[in-house]
Amino acid sequence: MQAHIVTLPGDGIGVEVVTEGVKVLRRVAEVFGHTFGFDEQPIGGTAIDDFGNPLPAATLEACQKADAVLLGAVGGPKWSDPSAPVRPEQGLLGLRKEMGLYANLRPVKIYPMLQAASPLRPERLEGVDLVVVRELTGGIYFGARQEATAEVREAYDTMIYTADEIRRITVRAFELARGRRNKVTSVDKANVLAVSRLWRKVVIEVGHEYPDVTLEHMLVDAATMHLLRRPADFDVMVMGNMFGDILTDEASMLAGSMGMLASASLGEGTQGVYEPIHGSAPDIAGQGIANPLATILSVAMLLRYSLGLEEEAGAVEDAVSAVLEAGYRTPDIAGPDTQRVSTGEMGDHVVAAMLGNAG
Ligand code: IPM
Ligand code: MG
Repeated sequence: MQAHIVTLPGDGIGVEVVTEGVKVLRRVAEVFGHTFGFDEQPIGGTAIDDFGNPLPAATLEACQKADAVLLGAVGGPKWSDPSAPVRPEQGLLGLRKEMGLYANLRPVKIYPMLQAASPLRPERLEGVDLVVVRELTGGIYFGARQEATAEVREAYDTMIYTADEIRRITVRAFELARGRRNKVTSVDKANVLAVSRLWRKVVIEVGHEYPDVTLEHMLVDAATMHLLRRPADFDVMVMGNMFGDILTDEASMLAGSMGMLASASLGEGTQGVYEPIHGSAPDIAGQGIANPLATILSVAMLLRYSLGLEEEAGAVEDAVSAVLEAGYRTPDIAGPDTQRVSTGEMGDHVVAAMLGNAG
């Protein structure tokens, strides 16, 4: 098949990990006989430096025309002044919003050979296999806000959800659960927030349409605790934008590192933006030590969801498992009996592991 893929390396380690993602995509094209075209575009802090805009019009336009988008990360200390007029993160949020990518899928998969990298005891990690379905274009991230000024030292953000927004993300979660272990945990703060009370009501309504799926509700504070106490009990977790942001950073430590968690941001069509859940990690940028596996696993999701290439997606995931099995580790997941490799070497090993899987 032919596919047109836009890459948005962004800032910090985003550049390094996207390089490895593209390496793997090229290998997939070669092994399976596809033609992938690549178009690199600026986003985030680098786009602010060069164009004064974290999401230049040309970048958005290129993404809207693409079959899929592979993104690295945005942000960094250079652009973090709280009084700055624009921020790199606005580029990412604008992209999600403009492309209508309301459903963010963040699978948490535990590789048995990485159990030691997690701060949790191995027995707690047994059987962990969950997906967080995070609402991505609404909630407190996008509600009306007021910045404080020198005179008015008061600020606010607003959390708003319509019933329709809640319904469509919940339907995603239930559909996903049907192909898995038939369980949905909806996370909210219904004991305090009006938005959460509407959220729970709509989720219950949708749940009636899926009698074969078990539905449970959990308050977000309790959910952070149960995620550590009994993570294997979760299958699909659905929640609003900010709760999903917070809980997926927590959940990444089940897998051992932020550098292991991939994500897909999807709308109604097959188009999507694929990115690791980690940030630009300015502290390690440029050193060649970032873990590219979250991005490479995001590539697998890109192949699966936007290009419909299930076999190819599986081949990438198998290659990642094989490389971990062989003991190769970037520093974030390294252990005593493992072999330390650089970002680029890790990408090379994944490419090498993808030998002749073509059908
Ligand atoms: C994420 C990130 C972003 C978010 C930031 C960079 C705006 O933390 O994708 O999890 O909060 O959504
Ligand atoms: Mg985050």
